[in-house]
Amino acid sequence: MTDASDASGLDADLATAGRVFADPSAYADDQRFHAACALLRRLDPVHRVEVDGFNPFWAVTRHDDVMEIERHPDRWVNGPRPLLGPKSADDRLAAENVPVRTLIQMDAPDHPVYRRITSDWFKPRSVARLDARLAELARRYVDRMAELGGGCDFVTDVAVHYPLYVILSLLGLPEADFPRMLKLTQELFGASDPEMARNADPKAQEQTLLELFEYFQALIEDRRATPTDDLASVIANASVDGEAIGVLEAVGYYVLIATAGHDTTSSSIAGGLHALLQHPDQLRRLLDDPALVPTAVEEMIRWVSPVKQFMRTATEDSLVRGVPIAAGESVLLSYPSANRDEDVFDHADTFDVARDPNRHVAFGFGAHYCLGAKLAKMEIRALLTELVPRLRSIELAGEPALSHTTFVGGLKHLPIRYELT
Ligand code: HEM
Repeated sequence: MTDASDASGLDADLATAGRVFADPSAYADDQRFHAACALLRRLDPVHRVEVDGFNPFWAVTRHDDVMEIERHPDRWVNGPRPLLGPKSADDRLAAENVPVRTLIQMDAPDHPVYRRITSDWFKPRSVARLDARLAELARRYVDRMAELGGGCDFVTDVAVHYPLYVILSLLGLPEADFPRMLKLTQELFGASDPEMARNADPKAQEQTLLELFEYFQALIEDRRATPTDDLASVIANASVDGEAIGVLEAVGYYVLIATAGHDTTSSSIAGGLHALLQHPDQLRRLLDDPALVPTAVEEMIRWVSPVKQFMRTATEDSLVRGVPIAAGESVLLSYPSANRDEDVFDHADTFDVARDPNRHVAFGFGAHYCLGAKLAKMEIRALLTELVPRLRSIELAGEPALSHTTFVGGLKHLPIRYELT
């Protein structure tokens, strides 16, 4: 083969690799996805992607570059294209033709103002008081596993319920409404997966958003009339520049917390358990030394990286790793790729429950750093702290399945067999 055909072969390989970010089925195939990211990190870490139906974007796959971009929210903004979606979704967001506006879509000066409304509530010292409540909920779910008699689908029986229960309890919603919330959040986030979405039609997603909107609008009215000490009241009664928070912004807040706090954590829990089952030496290590639970939690989150991407748009002509990116162009920050970057993690493709340090960026970085990071880690830790000492044995009892997504996701099924005390 000539040099020229080698080069065009490589270009074709890189183009194929770059398309994984816009392909929901690629995220359901861990090996294919990570092989594509490894190729891009090595040969074209700031890679231009052009896919039918999507506006072009640059895929950023190295850890340092993701951090560097997130470090400069003035030069790299979230609006108008905060996450990857088809052209039609970009157009709707750009036209501000969406029913709710969340922190994710905001930049300074609005973003810090709206973030401050709940940032105290989510501070480590403040969420630490939830420890006993989390331990109680974790016990409830491990008891539930015991009641299920030695076998369950860990995703549908445990992992999706526990974090939703935590988050909706904190918001202060009645337990009777939890099943409806579960369904709506899964429809919203799992919209690319045929098993979970009503259908692939963006209109159906709008319908889901609308239902959430109506639900939360009623909640705001209630908490304004009768404030309590729950998170819903903090938001409903917040003021912005001396005025009561707008209904759209308040609803956006609820939707963001109810959704962002849910699939992310449940995917980390289920994917983390799956990783333990795939690496029996690491499971043994954890069972022998439960003091490893905190590092195991970080490693599970790195391994799963349930948030697949957020986007930033350049406000000025910029260079990323020497690659020119024009003002108005967008970059996709690939968290799962950054979290396997061989320059930052020793044996990046090895699952190590004692990994320390673990500088993963699964929670992002900088101005938009995940508000719920501390809470999410406490939740996962509480579940493992309850589960690990009670496990006599555990193994896979069928084929696990990953969801189709381009945004947030992980396992949708994890059949297991186990013995618990
Ligand atoms: C393992 C679980 C979780 C992961 C991996 C995760 C990941 C992320 C990521 C990557 C971002 C964007 C950060 C950036 O742009 O730099 C984010 C933002 C956010 N997360 Fe999480 N998250 C998790 C759990 C939670 C929980 C439990 C909550 C709330 C209860 C939550 C609430 C939020 C909020 C409100 C934002 C928006 C922050 C902003 O834009 O200022 N997340 N999360």
